[in-house]
Amino acid sequence: MKPISPAVSVRGLVKTYRDGENVRRVVDGLNFDALPGECVALWGPSGSGKSTLLNILAALLKPDAGEVLVRPSRTEELIAVHSLTAAQATRYRRRCLGYVFQFFNLVPTLTVEENIRLPLALNGMEKNWFDAKARLGRLGLGDRLNAFPEVLSGGERQRVAIARALAHRPSIVLADEPTGNLDAGNAQTVAALLFEAVRAEGATLLLATHDASLAECADRRIDLVMHS
Ligand SMILES: Nc1ncnc2c1ncn2[C@@H]1O[C@H](COP(=O)(O)OP(=O)(O)OP(=O)(O)O)[C@@H](O)[C@H]1O
Ligand SMILES: [Mg+2]
Repeated sequence: MKPISPAVSVRGLVKTYRDGENVRRVVDGLNFDALPGECVALWGPSGSGKSTLLNILAALLKPDAGEVLVRPSRTEELIAVHSLTAAQATRYRRRCLGYVFQFFNLVPTLTVEENIRLPLALNGMEKNWFDAKARLGRLGLGDRLNAFPEVLSGGERQRVAIARALAHRPSIVLADEPTGNLDAGNAQTVAALLFEAVRAEGATLLLATHDASLAECADRRIDLVMHS
């Protein structure tokens, strides 16, 4: 039987930051694969390079060495994210990635509906609004379409952000401490909804967290360590 080819493959990844005289290796020879539809937790303490790794996967940051290969969709071959041009990187992010941030990053001047329609319009995928609206309903936000982010609770804002991340049906979802700004009860609810929604889409989730209980919700945990 042919082995399943990964959705994400990271090989020999190195990232350093220069701070005056000091050069810090934040990522030092990292290797891992994520299979299509797999939910992988990138777990480690503050400063272990979780956000750095997500930014490299999002082609926002270039590694010093190593390969980052991502399958844009189930029917396409892996592409080398580390060597995309700026224009290719923008297109890759828009088309292939969904992003859930710790601080929601909703556009404050747009309603819930508009926050979700905007990335759909940028992708020429307005027709996805019908499904996105149904997803908002499943996330418990069916009656908040005309609300502005400022009147929503933290948990509600993050549920809008989840709906926005999935609206264009990306193959990869990157989440950076998605419950880090929520109280314990809300964090659990939002985490469960995030995993449920990503699994329903069959997307691959890479979730950065220092929270061991959140990492446990994933199919697998990759431990990131501090380098001196
Ligand atoms: N642009 C930068 N220039 C210099 N150092 C940086 C830069 N970005 C991050 N770092 C350093 O790299 C290390 C890893 O940062 P990163 O934000 O990836 O960690 P993290 O695991 O996401 O931490 P946290 O859990 O606090 O979000 C930290 O020591 C940070 O100070
Ligand atoms: Mg971080």
